[in-house]
Amino acid sequence: MGCTYKILRGEDLETVVPSNQKFALDVLIGLSEKPKQLSSMYFYDDTGSRLFQKIMALPEYYLTSCEMEIIKTQTEQFSNLVGDGTFHLIELGAGDGSKTSVLIDHFLQKKLEFDYIPIDISEAAMKTLLRSMGKKFETLSANGLVAEYFDGLKWISQSKHKRNMVLMLGSNLGNFNKARARVFLRSLWNSLNNGDYVVIGFDLKKDIEIMLRAYNDSQGVTEKFNLNLLRRINTELGGQFDLNKFRFYANYNVFSGAIESFLVSLEPQRIYIAQLGDYFEFDAWEPIHTEYSYKFLESDISLLAEQTGYRIVHQLYDSKRYFVDSIWRVEKLEATAHK
Ligand code: AVJ
Repeated sequence: MGCTYKILRGEDLETVVPSNQKFALDVLIGLSEKPKQLSSMYFYDDTGSRLFQKIMALPEYYLTSCEMEIIKTQTEQFSNLVGDGTFHLIELGAGDGSKTSVLIDHFLQKKLEFDYIPIDISEAAMKTLLRSMGKKFETLSANGLVAEYFDGLKWISQSKHKRNMVLMLGSNLGNFNKARARVFLRSLWNSLNNGDYVVIGFDLKKDIEIMLRAYNDSQGVTEKFNLNLLRRINTELGGQFDLNKFRFYANYNVFSGAIESFLVSLEPQRIYIAQLGDYFEFDAWEPIHTEYSYKFLESDISLLAEQTGYRIVHQLYDSKRYFVDSIWRVEKLEATAHK
């Protein structure tokens, strides 16, 4: 069979604004707002995806090692979900796929029949992922989709003829606020069939110091990761940011339940962005909000599932109970299910 793959783009599915123009527009809106903000979605260009891989290898960034432990020790819980017949293994925000390759290895050993469909916004990350998967697993059939999550859903809803297992690991859902998480999960529900499975990684609320250390890492990789947003504006939009004039700051907001990340301007400055044809003013100590990393209670998870049409079938924890891979089943009345 060999490992076959092609890269599909969100743009191919429907006519959308070219991605560079969308980036420019979002930067214009975000930097015109008070407080200023830029979306963490834009962290993940090629450089950003590489920096995120470094973050995942940091000792302080417990999320990855906890989830790896869950997947390695409870692999059967995943393969038991799918009986005979072929299915799609769809992964949202696949990144480097190191956790998923443990699952894939197990699935192949069990002689399960499936296609692997990783969805990620970084084309470079996608190429690296598919190359390494192809090397590791000769018999794997994989079709990558370079797209944002919502564009990815469009693809999923076009493939309703097969059973699906959708993975959203690594607390990727944690970047969405409550309302957006609900909208997203319900849209995902709409694009799936009754009985399909969704596996979502949630970072649980825990000792605040432990959560803070994961983002204020000693090597400053997370700072570089955030500053990469400004570097991207410089290279892609002709911006003139001096990265030394901003400092990264992350705190835990007990009310929102999220680690909130910022880039803070160290002095008053006026920055020109050529493609936007305009200057942007910063006061000394003015922040740009860059990311929410929401943390969850058990009750948050059950409420989310309930509100969006899923039944929780397993809660898989690591030994420290820092993280949970929550396995949900899509619940639809057969009569109304789209065939
Ligand atoms: C990939 C969104 C789960 O929020 O923890 C890591 C991204 N940001 N360090 C997270 C991130 C700073 C990460 N997620």
